[in-house]
Amino acid sequence: MSVKDTFLRVEGLAKRFPSSKGELTVFDKVDFGIARGEFVCIIGHSGCGKTTILNVLAGLEQPSGGFVFMDGREVSGPGLERGVVFQGHALMPWMTVMGNVSFAVRSRWPSWNRAKVEAHARRFIDLVGLSGAEHKKPAELSGGMKQRVGIARAFAIEPKMLLLDEPFGALDALTRGVIQDELLKICAETHQTVFMITHDVDEAILLADRILLMSNGPNARIAEVVRNTLPRDRTRLTIHHDPQFYKIRNHLVDFLVHRSKLIQQGGVDTAAGASGGPVEVSPGLEPDQPDPVPTVPAPRLHAVR
Ligand SMILES: Nc1ncnc2c1ncn2[C@@H]1O[C@H](COP(=O)(O)OP(=O)(O)OP(=O)(O)O)[C@@H](O)[C@H]1O
Ligand SMILES: [Mg+2]
Repeated sequence: MSVKDTFLRVEGLAKRFPSSKGELTVFDKVDFGIARGEFVCIIGHSGCGKTTILNVLAGLEQPSGGFVFMDGREVSGPGLERGVVFQGHALMPWMTVMGNVSFAVRSRWPSWNRAKVEAHARRFIDLVGLSGAEHKKPAELSGGMKQRVGIARAFAIEPKMLLLDEPFGALDALTRGVIQDELLKICAETHQTVFMITHDVDEAILLADRILLMSNGPNARIAEVVRNTLPRDRTRLTIHHDPQFYKIRNHLVDFLVHRSKLIQQGGVDTAAGASGGPVEVSPGLEPDQPDPVPTVPAPRLHAVR
């Protein structure tokens, strides 16, 4: 990706928090770019700093070092050109489902009248399967339903960039599949740029053009960037028939099981790419092994520290 095509650019990002031992460097020297219309996922163990990076991209948290530029301008605070789905829903508890979504729509298009705002909000409430629940408040909703309100709110403002923090984590498999398909459709139709955190390697391979692999914290960094070489019209129902799928999946699982920790401990290092950032690899295009490597089951990331 040339600098010219880069829509979002992250340079030398670092975040330190005060701690009982003085200071905790969560991550350091984080560099990456996202092209306009690109879908990028980030994967890493719990606590490595993924949400903190997303909050910095959203302008909700100040970095301790480094810069974020979006569309040629430095990100210095929150803005409606970025739609965020938070890990913890972050809904307004006194507002209904319709209230939460239409509040965002009204902020984005202040000149719209009430009917137009509600019709627009309803489209996205329907999209996430919540029609009929418009008048419920967050306390009356399940975790998955709250998550869907957050998704509807972020999609409804049609942002230049979507920032998604494990948006499908609390959804049942069926709903998750439906919303993943919708997200792919929206991205294909609108060339939406997306930065998404996930713990699910299969989800990352289905959705992402590139997958950023983050080493364990503290002092975490983007250790590697994996290019998804599967065709962009891949679908949930057919993706596993492509031999490239297993090569990419095994590469990601191997990183999470072994290399993410070794890199943090300084046991192995990854070469820097031409730009000085993390190296980019295409495991899907690697030649076949003489003895096929069995597919390792995906690790339960929250249980691993
Ligand atoms: N406000 C804060 N003050 C102090 N430490 C913090 C603060 N926010 C986050 N941290 C620490 O920064 C680290 C990274 O947190 P973050 O929430 O970004 O992790 P994460 O990769 O999103 O984890 P998970 O996968 O569990 O959501 C953790 O060690 C966390 O304890
Ligand atoms: Mg998180």
